[in-house]
Amino acid sequence: MSEFIELEQIDGAVKIIRSRIGVQPRVGMILGSGLGTLAESVKDAVTIPYGDLPPWPVSTVEGHHGQLVIGKLEGQEVLVMQGRSHYYEGYSMPQIGFPVRVMQRLGVEILIVTNAAGAVNPNFEPGDVMLITDHLNLLGMAGESPLRGPNFDEIGPRFPDMGFAYDRELGELSRQVAEENGFALQEGVYVCLAGPTFETPADLRFLKAIGVDAVGMSTVPEVTVAVHGGMRSLGLSTISNKANLDGNTITSHEEVLEAGKIVLPKLTQIVTGVLQKL
Ligand code: HPA
Repeated sequence: MSEFIELEQIDGAVKIIRSRIGVQPRVGMILGSGLGTLAESVKDAVTIPYGDLPPWPVSTVEGHHGQLVIGKLEGQEVLVMQGRSHYYEGYSMPQIGFPVRVMQRLGVEILIVTNAAGAVNPNFEPGDVMLITDHLNLLGMAGESPLRGPNFDEIGPRFPDMGFAYDRELGELSRQVAEENGFALQEGVYVCLAGPTFETPADLRFLKAIGVDAVGMSTVPEVTVAVHGGMRSLGLSTISNKANLDGNTITSHEEVLEAGKIVLPKLTQIVTGVLQKL
């Protein structure tokens, strides 16, 4: 495979999906570590394993299923990615962006992205949900952009503006839903690091100094591709752990998955509430 994705590959996957579904999905959803159970509520679901849609990256990590679930959720036609892949698994950035490209060619307009993240902001606690108001694209600054390579002029511009990466109306709807359900929604800046290591205390002090509220290993590539193609994005981080700024605690994947279970009801309320309001 070329280092870059080709339009024919995107449209090949679109053709396979279209041949199996009879609906026009409007909302795409990417469910992160331990958060995939929301896909089980999709009605009239058609499931398609990622392996049927090459070069769709297949998730290799525990807590990530590997299938598309397409159907109805809260009255909306949705296409849900139950599990996602990450850069640290060895996929190229353009390949990480492939699923969002497929959504764009399918006509999906809105992207809801969830992830598990560590809290750099000391006011956040495990079990909180953070509305992503902006992201810090450290990997992009280092040259790893999913948009690197020939531009798809038929999808979006060579130099996309990132000033409105996270849609303000979708953010406002999320605030309303949290308020209606009686819980506080945190807000802040998310950074994606390459992983797979969790951060050193020095990494975390650096991230804090440059304005990061939550740290994870995903979402930024997908949202970058979404912006390029003109989709509106909503990003939600579930806070699974406090960052180890003082070097006295240990972060583990098991902890991240456990926290995912605790925070799932809140995340589900926000996502279903926003779908109802769309
Ligand atoms: N760091 C990076 N990624 C994460 C973390 C973290 O502390 N928690 C969950 N995903």
